[in-house]
Amino acid sequence: MKRFEDKVVIITGAAGGIGKEIARKLAGEGAKLALVDLNEGALHEVMTELELPEDKTLLVKADVSKEADVKNYVEQTLVKFGKIDGFANNAGVEGPAKPLEELTEQDFDFVYSINVKGAFFGIKYVLPVMKQQKQGSIVNTASVAGLIGSPNMLLYNSSKHALMGINKVAAIEAAPFNVRVNTVNPGVINTQMMRHIEEKVAPGASEVARAAYNDAVPLKRYGEPEEVANVVAFLLSDESSYVSSSSYTVDGALYNV
Ligand SMILES: NC(=O)c1ccc[n+]([C@@H]2O[C@H](COP(=O)([O-])OP(=O)(O)OC[C@H]3O[C@@H](n4cnc5c(N)ncnc54)[C@H](O)[C@@H]3O)[C@@H](O)[C@H]2O)c1
Repeated sequence: MKRFEDKVVIITGAAGGIGKEIARKLAGEGAKLALVDLNEGALHEVMTELELPEDKTLLVKADVSKEADVKNYVEQTLVKFGKIDGFANNAGVEGPAKPLEELTEQDFDFVYSINVKGAFFGIKYVLPVMKQQKQGSIVNTASVAGLIGSPNMLLYNSSKHALMGINKVAAIEAAPFNVRVNTVNPGVINTQMMRHIEEKVAPGASEVARAAYNDAVPLKRYGEPEEVANVVAFLLSDESSYVSSSSYTVDGALYNV
């Protein structure tokens, strides 16, 4: 029996590096998927690349920072599949890399509207469905940046710290209904987000930033998005049935340094 046979899972940020690998992993184990992203064209490319069947796949263009969009992707999932077993609350942005005194209100609102408000809205609309079902698993993609401070990354780091707090409260409210809530905390992972960060921290010399990140990781390499997806799949599956309010670093021991 595949772990996700007859299971319905929503993935936000599904057109991005980590989201796509979560989709690949879960689809391979039988899941029906609602793939959500701002980038509709890229969602279609994911569906084609992963050869996802129409009857087991729903694509929804949504801006997770807009409450109406979030309500809509949850409603559309229920219309097509009738339930929600898992929720990979994964969409996020890195925002600017600058000293804190140079950050603007617009910078603040941009990062927090997606990484904090967007993640909150997702839980706000998915959790009642899972509570009614008396089962479900939510995995919030936080970051090692939600556990430590990094220079010039105030908005990203603090927004992921906020998500850690949301995770703790949601896990306690969800527990009486047999719903589990956890975070995965990736370190430096090979996706377009890290390409953007490398360019922002070392404009025109991103290979220097890349080498420095590689060196900083005790395992001496970036993680691959499928290595994050493996842990997300575990947390979404029944194998983690006694795991809630936990945080799983997937970081090559970076947090320990
Ligand atoms: N790559 C890393 O090193 C790393 C490390 C730690 C945590 N993370 C977290 O993992 C998650 C996925 O990151 P990734 O590396 O796959 O990045 P990515 O840039 O490849 O993917 C992010 C996806 O989110 C989507 N998105 C952005 N804003 C959105 C919005 N308002 N509404 C809906 N979708 C939106 C983008 O279109 C993109 O497809 C993020 O939450 C990120 O913070 C990434």
